[in-house]
Formats: sequence, C-alpha cells, structure tokens
Amino acid sequence: MSTESKIRQLIDKREEARKGGGQKRIDSQHKKGKLTARERLDLLLDDGSFEEFDMFVHHRCTDFGIDRERPYTDGVVTGYGTIDGRLVYVYAYDFTVFGGSLGEMVAKKVCKVLDQAMKMGAPVIGLNDSGGARIQEGVKSLAGYAEIFERNILASGVVPQLTAIFGPCAGGAVYSPALTDFIVMSKTNSYMFLTGPKVVKTVTSEDVTDEELGGATVHASKSGVAHFVAEDEQEGIMLLRKMLSYMPQNNLEDPPYIPTDDPIDRMDDILDTIIPDSPNKPYDVKDIIHAIVDNKEFLEVSRLYAPNIVTGFARFDGMSVGIVANQPNYLAGVLDINSSRKAARFVRFCDAFNIPILTLVDVPGFLPGTAQEYGGIIVHGAKLLYAYGAATVPKVTIELRKSYGGAYIVMSSKHLRGDISYAWPTAEIAVMGAKGATEILYGKKMLGIEDPEERRIAGENFEKEYEDKFSNPYEAASHGFIDDIIVPRTTRFRVIKAFQSLATKKENVIAKKHGNIPL
Ligand code: HXC
Repeated sequence: MSTESKIRQLIDKREEARKGGGQKRIDSQHKKGKLTARERLDLLLDDGSFEEFDMFVHHRCTDFGIDRERPYTDGVVTGYGTIDGRLVYVYAYDFTVFGGSLGEMVAKKVCKVLDQAMKMGAPVIGLNDSGGARIQEGVKSLAGYAEIFERNILASGVVPQLTAIFGPCAGGAVYSPALTDFIVMSKTNSYMFLTGPKVVKTVTSEDVTDEELGGATVHASKSGVAHFVAEDEQEGIMLLRKMLSYMPQNNLEDPPYIPTDDPIDRMDDILDTIIPDSPNKPYDVKDIIHAIVDNKEFLEVSRLYAPNIVTGFARFDGMSVGIVANQPNYLAGVLDINSSRKAARFVRFCDAFNIPILTLVDVPGFLPGTAQEYGGIIVHGAKLLYAYGAATVPKVTIELRKSYGGAYIVMSSKHLRGDISYAWPTAEIAVMGAKGATEILYGKKMLGIEDPEERRIAGENFEKEYEDKFSNPYEAASHGFIDDIIVPRTTRFRVIKAFQSLATKKENVIAKKHGNIPL
C-alpha cells in the first residue's frame, strides 16, 4: 500500500471512529434532545483544542453476539484540551455505542485519562450518559468500574474532578460521579439512581418514575447529590467552564487571579440598613454577598439543598474565595443535619484546593428536636466543626447578627484557627438569645412573683440586662475573640485587606496518615 493510501486509510478510519455507533444512533440521540459525546466536548473545550486518545480502541468481548459489532472508540471519547487556555482532561460517555455502557476497554480509556491528569496536575471533567455496566462483559465491567473508583479516590484533593450527568447514570455507575467534587445535572434527560424504578417496585412496592426517583430536581433539592441544575446541556457545560475558573489546576497551585475594575473601596450603603431592628426579622444574606464581591458575581453551589446555609464561589479584587453564609431567610439560618453536611463538604473542597474561605455568620444555633438528634446531628454538626478546624487556608469571618452557642464556635470562629474575625455592630455573640437565657436563669425566680404585670416587667428587666451584657459584639471583642468591629458598608474593603494580608499564610500541620473525620 502506498503512503498516500495509508494516509487515506487513516483519514477514513478516523471518520468512521467519529461516527461512534453510526448515524442512526446519532439521529436517535438528537431526537431525544441530547447532544453526542463529541458535540458536548466541542462545546466544553476551547475551539480546536481537543486532542483525542484511543480513538482506535474497540472491545474484546465475544459473548452474546456482541462481537458482530466492534465500533471504534468503544463507548467513551477521551483526551485532553483547554478551557480558557488551561489544560483539562476529559472523558465523555458515548451513548451511541452500546448505550455508553462500560466494559473492560472503556474503563481502561477512562483510567488512562485519570492517570494522565494526576501526573500532569490538571483537572478532570467527566460527561456521563451511560447505561452502566456493559452486561455482555460481566465481571470485567465491574472490575473496570472499581479501577475508575480507585483513581477517583487517588485524584481526590489532588486535581479538581467535575462531572456532568446528561443521560442515564444507574447502578454502580453513580459512584464515580459521587466520588468527584461537583456534579451538574441537566433538567432534561438526566437521572441517577442505584436501583431503577422496576427494582424499587419489586422490593418496596413503590411506584416511582425515573424523574421522581433520580431526576435533577430531586438530587439538587432532596438528596444533595447534585450541586448544580442546568436547564439544558449547553447551560450545564457553561457551568462546568465557569466552575473551573475559580479553581486551581491542582492542590499545589493557587486559583487563577482575574483582574477586576470593581474598586476595592467600593462601599454599598445597603449594608448599613440591611439588618432589621427586630432580631426575629429575616433578610436575604445573598444581598450582602452580592454587595461585597467583585461585580456582584456569585456562583452558588447546592442552591436548592439546605438553603438555610449558602455556599459558593466569588472573587475579591480578583482572588477566588469560597463563601459560606447562614441564610436568615430560610429556617432563620439554623444549623441542621443537611446544612452542616453541605457546608462541611464545601469547606473541605476549598481547603484542599487553596481557596480562601469567607464566613458570614447569622445563626440562632443548632436545630433542636428528636428528628435531628435521631438523625445524628451530633456527628453531622461535627463534620462542619472538623472541616473548619482542620482547614489551613486563609479564613476570614464576619459576625453579622446572631452568633449563639455551639454555632458561634462552628462557624469559623477564631478558636478553630480562624485568621481574622470581624463583627458588625449588630452582632450578638452569646451562649444563647436573650429570651431563652432569661427563662433559664430567672424562670423560677419569676414564677415567685405573683402579680402578672410585675412579673412581665421583671422579665423585661432581666432580658435587658442580658442584652446589654451579651447581645452585642463588644464583650467578645474585649476578649480578643473579634479582631475589630466594622462599619457594615466598609465590609468589602476590610475583607479584601484581610485576605491580602493572609496571602502568605503558612500553617504547620502535625504529620499523620489522615484524621478520622466523623463521616
Ligand atoms: C450493554 C446496553 C446497556 C448495558 C444499554 N445498552 N444499556 N448494552 N450493557 N448496560 C444498549 C442497548 O442494548 C441499546 O443497544 C443501546 O444501548 C441503547 O439502549 P436503549 O435501551 O435502546 O435506550 P433507552 O431506551 O434510551 O434506554 C436507556 C437505558 C436502558 C435506560 C439506559 O438501556 C437500560 O435500562 N439499560 C440497562 C441499565 C442497567 O441496568 N445497567 C446495569 C446497571 S448495574 P442498540 O444496539 O439497540 O443500540 C451496574 C453495576 C455496576 O451498572 C456496578 C459497579 C460497582
């Protein structure tokens, strides 16, 4: 064969490989409103940056007649490219090839990408659309999943791992996404579950649809498995690109700095009036976040799950910062099982990847009750405590209003190696609110007062005495637990100065194999 023919043959083979499972299956994918794996990668990566690996791989199975078809690429498209000029490794399951199912060779391709990403110190993005373990390949499929899981675990905390779910993700296949840092699901066509509706019906007699069992809304609001919901695949892919802009390439680098025109001393008067006079009145902590971050841009993580705590990424004078804020607008911003888990996971991510953390505190305490105690609030609350206490990235805290009891300690207090703590003059740092404290301290004494009017006045006096002493930031500041009490509208400037001063922070950590986080 002449060289020219050999080159022609290569071009033809490449063309064939790019067709995946064939035009008919590509059309069927489009008919469902889904993009193909290659179309998704085109959207995700910078134009012309994709370099593909293993295009000529095909499966080696001969069982159940599967050897009649041996399409190139075998169920997953893999390689590397760039996003905003930064190297990323990618794998996109190709539903047109045996439903994107995973057999021996598919697993090898995904593992190769994960290995390269770890060696090169570059993020990995997986796009999921797969029928799960390839049934014809039996235990080899299971072994393949396990090899991927192990690499997801090894890469955890070394390079950011992001996943999008753009189709089915069932059975053991769900565990690879769950081991990654963030999951995006598209509202249409995507679902994740360990066991599908048919098995659920057999085992528990429940009637449930794919959507009700594992759709995007369910995982974003009820289980917390999905961190982002996108209207469609295009929006999901843009979210992946955006997320990455806040993250470093790996655990040894800093996140990208993006210069801003937003002045560091911009003051927003809304901050001086946002805290209502009544402690029982809510407000939206996101208004505070938008007022202080660069260009009001905030990428909220897990928006629909445990909204009593807000987590997300923003920038301060171009620096990437993770924000954790109690949300008085929902359940008064109380800490409960779900909000503790949500915030703990976010703090761990930021700490693993050198992203400083800003904590905005307005929290009445932990949610009481049997549901919380039986559900293990002790251990879940401890997760957040552990995450903050172990985090060595720069930590700046602003006490906005209520900061009571254990919740004061947990929310990145100085006692958990918080670096700089400021309070607004509206802050109330105490063991508990004035009303509760008065009842405990003076309840019996007040019962002794027979006249109801006298009892009411005595109660008010006790409450006032407690408020004067504790319902303010000055008592905590007098002990040095608060570094300064600041005028709210200066918050942006003070936060930026604080993070600038912490840029060279070094914290010694005692060598150990690993801690035993209360999982
Ligand atoms: C081999 C598969 C497959 C699989 C789908 N296909 N899933 N081939 N192994 N797991 C093939 C189909 O035969 C079909 O081939 C093509 O992919 C498209 O599938 P359809 O069923 O036509 O598509 P659709 O109607 O959209 O349904 C998609 C689906 C369904 C919901 C994913 O295919 C399905 O239920 N598949 C099985 C899911 C499953 O139970 N997986 C195993 C989970 S257990 P043709 O030739 O017609 O195009 C598991 C254990 C792992 O994953 C444990 C690891 C720890």
